[in-house]
Amino acid sequence: MTETLLVTGASGQLGRGVIHHLLDTLKIPPQRIIAATRNPANLADLAARGVAIRTADFDDTASLASAFKGADRVLIISTGEIDLVHGKRLKQHQNAVAAARQADVSHLLYTSMPNPEPISPVLFAGDHHGTEQAIKASGIPYTIFRNGWYQENLFMSLPHAIASGHWYTSAAEGRIAHGARDDMAAAIAASLASGASESKTYTLTGPQAYTVAEIAALVTEVTGKPLEVIQLPDEALTEGVKAAGIPEDFARIIVSFDANTRSGRINMVTDAIETLSGKKPQSLKQFLEANKTALAG
Ligand SMILES: NC(=O)c1ccc[n+]([C@@H]2O[C@H](COP(=O)([O-])OP(=O)(O)OC[C@H]3O[C@@H](n4cnc5c(N)ncnc54)[C@H](OP(=O)(O)O)[C@@H]3O)[C@@H](O)[C@H]2O)c1
Repeated sequence: MTETLLVTGASGQLGRGVIHHLLDTLKIPPQRIIAATRNPANLADLAARGVAIRTADFDDTASLASAFKGADRVLIISTGEIDLVHGKRLKQHQNAVAAARQADVSHLLYTSMPNPEPISPVLFAGDHHGTEQAIKASGIPYTIFRNGWYQENLFMSLPHAIASGHWYTSAAEGRIAHGARDDMAAAIAASLASGASESKTYTLTGPQAYTVAEIAALVTEVTGKPLEVIQLPDEALTEGVKAAGIPEDFARIIVSFDANTRSGRINMVTDAIETLSGKKPQSLKQFLEANKTALAG
């Protein structure tokens, strides 16, 4: 197979992970890989290995036209530009899909989220749903990865919760199967390199779904620190998050994750990571054990 594989957002954590798996796990020759980023200087290490580095900014359609030229399979990594007011991220992704169509790419891959339909409580779900719609409307054969929440997201809440002994949530008895970011990168890389041309949607998750209380019990088992889960209504949780110094928009987004968990829309467990990468996904307990010091001091 000689198809050229392009990864956008190549200097982000997931983008770097995908390229690492293309080169080091799947042994794809660097000459077949294009790493596209807003900041090529960040990828000097990949350039030194023979990967082509191109400038691509979803806000700059001219950069996309030259970046995507000659690429066969293009992975669009969703950007971190969450903007509840102007819908900037959806516009960025639509620009990328349009550029892929102009460049005649043969297969388009995209990192979405589980169950992104308009009824999702997640405040930015519309960015992913709208992008999925744009991809389907483009007529380009596609692979959509609906990435479940990363285990690494727990670095945002757990250190403070463990230090205080209290974990405030509105997720009630809802469950999540957090997955390791690197396992998702391995699955995405394998699919990007596979040459598979059929349009498919995969939901990528960790191996087991837990309630917040069950995660807290696992944290205590691993760290030895007691952690009490305190369930609040969404409004009270939002006020608490704001009082901790988080800006209102971001506080509302954080609480929308808990509302989504409570609704059962992110409780699925799939075997897609293992099916695509051939690798058993890291369990939550393994993640907690590996990061015990960073999480609990
Ligand atoms: N499933 C989850 O739990 C979860 C958690 C956090 C984020 N995410 C989503 O998954 C994506 C990848 O995660 P990550 O951990 O790699 O995040 P990250 O390290 O914060 O990376 C952010 C990414 O956004 C790209 N980006 C930002 N603005 C862009 C623009 N104008 N044009 C093109 N690309 C742009 C960056 O590319 P360059 O800097 O290389 O240009 C980079 O790849 C995130 O951007 C976000 O959409 C998912």
